[in-house]
Amino acid sequence: MPFAAPARGYDLVVVANRLPVDVSVEDDGTTSWVRSPGGLVTALNPVMAQADGAWVGWGGAPDLELEPFAVDGTELIPVTLSAEDIAKFYEGFSNDTLWPLYHDVIASPTFHRAWWEAYQRVNRRFAEAAAAQAAQGATVWVHDYQLQLVPKLLRELRPDLRIGYFHHIPWPPLELFSQLPWRKQVVEGLLGADLIGFQRGGDAANFVRVVRRLTGLTTRGQVITLTKHGKVERHVRAAAFPISIDSGAFDELARTPEVQARAKQIRAELGDPEVLLLGVDRLDYTKGIRHRIKAYGELLHDGRLSTVSTTLVQVASPSRENVDAYVQLRDEVEQLVGRINGDYGQVGHAPVQYLHQSFPMEEMAALYLAADVMLVTALRDGMNLVAKEYVAARSDDRGALVLSEFTGAADELTGAILVNPHDIDGMKDAITYAVHIDPRESRKRMRRLRRRVLGHDVNAWSQEFLAVLTAVPSREGRGGHV
Ligand code: F6P
Repeated sequence: MPFAAPARGYDLVVVANRLPVDVSVEDDGTTSWVRSPGGLVTALNPVMAQADGAWVGWGGAPDLELEPFAVDGTELIPVTLSAEDIAKFYEGFSNDTLWPLYHDVIASPTFHRAWWEAYQRVNRRFAEAAAAQAAQGATVWVHDYQLQLVPKLLRELRPDLRIGYFHHIPWPPLELFSQLPWRKQVVEGLLGADLIGFQRGGDAANFVRVVRRLTGLTTRGQVITLTKHGKVERHVRAAAFPISIDSGAFDELARTPEVQARAKQIRAELGDPEVLLLGVDRLDYTKGIRHRIKAYGELLHDGRLSTVSTTLVQVASPSRENVDAYVQLRDEVEQLVGRINGDYGQVGHAPVQYLHQSFPMEEMAALYLAADVMLVTALRDGMNLVAKEYVAARSDDRGALVLSEFTGAADELTGAILVNPHDIDGMKDAITYAVHIDPRESRKRMRRLRRRVLGHDVNAWSQEFLAVLTAVPSREGRGGHV
C-alpha cells in the first residue's frame, strides 16, 4: 500500500545502517550520544546543514526504542533493531554473507535462509521509516550493502520520490555475485533507485553486466531501461562517484602545533627509530594485515630492514567482534605479531607495536605525520579512506604511500607505490623501495597525491552525486530521459 507524504516532511532523507551518532547506555539506563567518527557523517554534514534533512538509521545498540531527535539541525530518526535482528541482519546477512561475497570471497560467505528473512524484514523497516519522513517529491539517499532492498520497497511505498543509492564497498564480478541464492531480488531491490553510485568504474560495469545477465533488461552504457507491459517505465543510471574525505579539515588538523608536537613525541616514545612504518585498519580480513606483517617479518629476517632501528605501528581497530571470521583473524594477527616480536625484539624495543584500539582523529593525524611509510595493503577495498587521510595529513610533502592495487583509491592515487599484496616478494621490494626512496622522488609523488586528495574532497563527492540525482525529472516528467 503506498504511503501518503507526511504533512511536514523533509526534502532530503538519508537512509544508512547507522545514525551519525552512536548511542551509549549508562549503568543507570540513561542514554547519551557520541558523534560517530565515520566518513559518511563528515561527508553528508555540509549537505545536511544546507538542506531540510532527516537521517534514518540504527543507534548501534539492541532494542533502543527512541523518539526522533535533532543534532546540528538534522533530524535523526532511530530504527530499532532487536538482538535477533543484529545477529541475523547485521552480523549475519550483512557481514557474514554479503561482506565476504562482495570482497572477492576472501572469506567464505555463509548462506542462511533465516538471515535472508531478517534482511528483508529489516530493510522493510528502514523503507517504511524513510517513507514516513520524506516530503512530497523529496530526494532520498540510501547508503550501502546493508540496505539494498530499500530502493524498491521505498518506490512501492512512495512513487513520488527521487531515490539515490550509493554502494560503499566493491561490486563483485557476475561469476561471484551469482553465488547469492537471492541475487535477483537484490538486483531488483537496487533497481528501485533512479541513480546507483559505485566507487569505481569497474564496480559500475560489473553491476550493469549482472543486471543484463540476471534480469534480461536492456542496458546502454551506464543506463538500464526498465519496462512494464512492453513499455518503457523508467531509466536507472549506474555510475562511479569515488568517495573522499574532508581533506581540507584534515590538512588543517595535521598542521596544528599540538598535532605536530604529538607526532614528534610519538617518534621519541618509540625510541626514535630510523624508519617508522604505519598500518591503520579496522581489524578486517579484507585489509591484508597478515600479508603486510608477514612481508615485514621477512624483511627483518633477511636483514633488509634493521631489527633495532625499524618499527611498524599497526593500529587495528576492533570491528564486528561477534562474527567468527573476525575472531579467527584476531587470533592469527596476534599470533603473528607475537612471533615477530619474540624473534626479533629486544629489551625496550618491539619491532611491531600492535594497538587493538580506536583513536581520536588528532592522534591519527599525529601518527600519519610521524610515519615515514604508510602501508595500505588491502586484498579488496571499496575505496580506503586511510590512504587519503595519510596524504591529507602530509602538508610537509614527505612520506611514502604503499598502496594495494585492489583498493578503489588506487584508481585515483597515481603517486602511490602500487603493490599486489598476494605477492609477498613484490611487497617486500615495494616496502624497501619506499623506505629508501630518494627525497626528491618522494616529494614529487606526494605533491601529485595531495593535488588529487585536496582537489576532490567529500563535499565535491556528495554534491556531484546529488546533482546527477536531482537532475532526474520529477515524477510527472518521467518516462523518457535520465
Ligand atoms: O566500508 C563499509 C562500512 O559499512 C563503512 O561504512 C563503515 O565505516 C565500516 O564498514 C564499519 O562498519 P560497521 O561497524 O557498521 O559494521
